[in-house]
Amino acid sequence: MDEQKPTPVDIPVDRMVPYRTRATRDKPIRWCSCGLSANQPFCDQAHRGTGHRPKAFQLPEDITVALCGCKATQNPPYCDGSHLAATARVIGSAT
Ligand code: FES
Repeated sequence: MDEQKPTPVDIPVDRMVPYRTRATRDKPIRWCSCGLSANQPFCDQAHRGTGHRPKAFQLPEDITVALCGCKATQNPPYCDGSHLAATARVIGSAT
């Protein structure tokens, strides 16, 4: 089965922003890569059957990070500013 993966255009506009998240030292985090989780930016297993997998990571210190909400980042799970272009595409497709 070759399901089409969600693209940033499939992500609601209200998710086209990074999520400021407080990471706790050495506590594993599973970042949602598909955009379907109801618990953004964290994985809730909604990716099942999509071909997407969450990005699991942990940090060596307590720190606030900006996790990507638009799923267009080239540096997952972190926001790299790609949401600016992704938002422009969504707004452009609505006109
Ligand atoms: S929210 Fe995705 S790159 Fe910023």
